Amino acid sequence: MGEEARIVSGIVQEYMKKHARSKQIFDEAWKVMPGANTRIAVFMMPYPAYITRGEGSSIWDVDGNQYVDLNFNMTCLVLGHKHPKVVEAINKQIECGTSFGGPTEHEVELAKRLIDRIPSAEQVRFTPSGTEAVHQAVRLARAYTKKDKIIKCEGAYHGTWDAIDISVFPTPEEQGPPLNPNRVPFSKGIPQGVIDNTLVVPFNNIEVMEKTIKENKDDLAAVILEPIQRGYEPKEGYLEAVREITEKYGILLIFDEVVCYRVRRGGAQELYGVTPDITTLGKLIGGGFPIGAYVSSREIMKQFSFELAEGPQLFFSGTFNAFPLAMVAGAATLDALTPDVYEKMDRLGEEMRTGLSEILSDQNIEAHVGGVASFFHIFWTKEEVVDYRTLKTADTRCQNYFDLDSLNRGIYYRDHPNVSAVTTREDVKKALDAARETVEILKPVIKEISPGLVQ
Ligand SMILES: Cc1ncc(COP(=O)(O)O)c(C=O)c1O
Repeated sequence: MGEEARIVSGIVQEYMKKHARSKQIFDEAWKVMPGANTRIAVFMMPYPAYITRGEGSSIWDVDGNQYVDLNFNMTCLVLGHKHPKVVEAINKQIECGTSFGGPTEHEVELAKRLIDRIPSAEQVRFTPSGTEAVHQAVRLARAYTKKDKIIKCEGAYHGTWDAIDISVFPTPEEQGPPLNPNRVPFSKGIPQGVIDNTLVVPFNNIEVMEKTIKENKDDLAAVILEPIQRGYEPKEGYLEAVREITEKYGILLIFDEVVCYRVRRGGAQELYGVTPDITTLGKLIGGGFPIGAYVSSREIMKQFSFELAEGPQLFFSGTFNAFPLAMVAGAATLDALTPDVYEKMDRLGEEMRTGLSEILSDQNIEAHVGGVASFFHIFWTKEEVVDYRTLKTADTRCQNYFDLDSLNRGIYYRDHPNVSAVTTREDVKKALDAARETVEILKPVIKEISPGLVQ
């Protein structure tokens, strides 16, 4: 038996021993949900731990296991679980009722906070999810420019919606040439007509972006990108150059800050000093409740309004838009994010990045650690990760085994690992102590499956 089979089967067995009740629920889930899940991002092998509750920086599962949470529902809970200020705001609102067939003052309050913080925000629209924010932002760009095509970056995930679910995780057989990627639907059920209107370029490559924009300028409504795409940063000057070219050709630039808004009070656009035309938001701005939003200039947002001579050009509604509990939880969250909280999260994020780098280097493993501000991430590859193709050189098996063994040790990473405002030095120490043991145990596996990573 090879090291992978021997060591990983031990990790899986221990996981199953510690997660017996989760297994029972998982078996039930198979009967009532296709693939036993209703959110693929939280699915994992052999099966996920079913969570019961969270408090501060900890979560617990149905088997009674406690974890240091370094996921915070994929970055949403920037203040941790059950933050007193958020709980107080929610309780106060629940006393008044949960939702109404009319607007509440709370949506105006949250909108004002976003406008105060985000450079590209003069006006705001709320949605119940980041996906819908992206959908509506693209529709807005199309209405404003009266053009249909959009450009997105290969490997970027912007939610689950047809026009954007293209070339998210293409396989090597599907992906095509690196500088001229194929447009690969991420899912069945996306019509060819939709695929035809989405152009795909590599992230961080300004030459290809410029060429694609020039060639399609008469049909292009917008370029949409995540300023920090799946944990790797834009190269110096990249965002500035995209801004310059889009402006030159009258094409709108959309920043998807659903995840990376977290890095600064004004989001990644504040960090990199580049202001897009439209920004999409979600996750943390709902304080743990479902939410999305898109913000833009008054001029662009006029498409929704009676200010236009021809009347509103865009229809937009939704029963749960500006859901009152999300509005008050979001406002309480933003109010609690003072400069010292950002500073603390940056510091602990850096401690995680440095600590993980040291652990890998002590074991002579050449994987490297990335991330910005409160984000950290091990890239299981020697290559510098700058786009989807370089990210694909990372060994996902190493990632999965690392995450699974970490769960056995009470550390919960999963996608978008991050620290929150309530993460403590003790949490970081626990996570790093556990990571040291995990990496030591996995080293023979890594040597076997990814020999190039071990010196
Ligand atoms: C960058 C980005 N955009 C959009 C979305 C979609 O947000 P939601 O899951 O709220 O629909 C996600 C979700 O993870 C995301 O990571």
